[in-house]
Amino acid sequence: MTETHRRTIRFKLNGRPAVSEIATHETLLEVLRRDFSLFGARESCGQGLCGCCTALVDGIAVSGCLYLAAYADGAEVTTVEGLASGSRLHPIQESFIANCGFQCGFCTPGFILMTKELLERHPQPTTDEIRHYLSGNLCRCAAYPDILRAVKAAAGQKG
Ligand code: FES
Ligand code: FES
Repeated sequence: MTETHRRTIRFKLNGRPAVSEIATHETLLEVLRRDFSLFGARESCGQGLCGCCTALVDGIAVSGCLYLAAYADGAEVTTVEGLASGSRLHPIQESFIANCGFQCGFCTPGFILMTKELLERHPQPTTDEIRHYLSGNLCRCAAYPDILRAVKAAAGQKG
């Protein structure tokens, strides 16, 4: 019989203290959805290939479907739900809306969080840098031209 190991993790989630009892094999995506009802990160490929499950851990984008929740102990985790300030959306969210950087929206939280990491590291990214950063995020609706425009606009650039 296989024994399930459990532990308690304490971390900051969207700016607030969070505690969760987890099995050590559980992923961050599972814990975010089950324990915190945060559904912005979605499972699509489940293999680290599509970016739909992206969350930021200490400002770095991770694939929530592969990242063990145990590693989030003591870290600062941000999901798309944590970007807005009250009723004011984050400028990157505004930019995706203004530039129609999505169609069905399934991939959008992942793109937005990856864009956040990108612009924090490269406030004025080149087109190649944007493409490179977002290359791990897949959009089945192929909204790529509008996503590129949205990212550029969020950086204050013309599409
Ligand atoms: S669901 Fe995690 S990368 Fe695709
Ligand atoms: S907008 Fe539909 S998957 Fe990207």
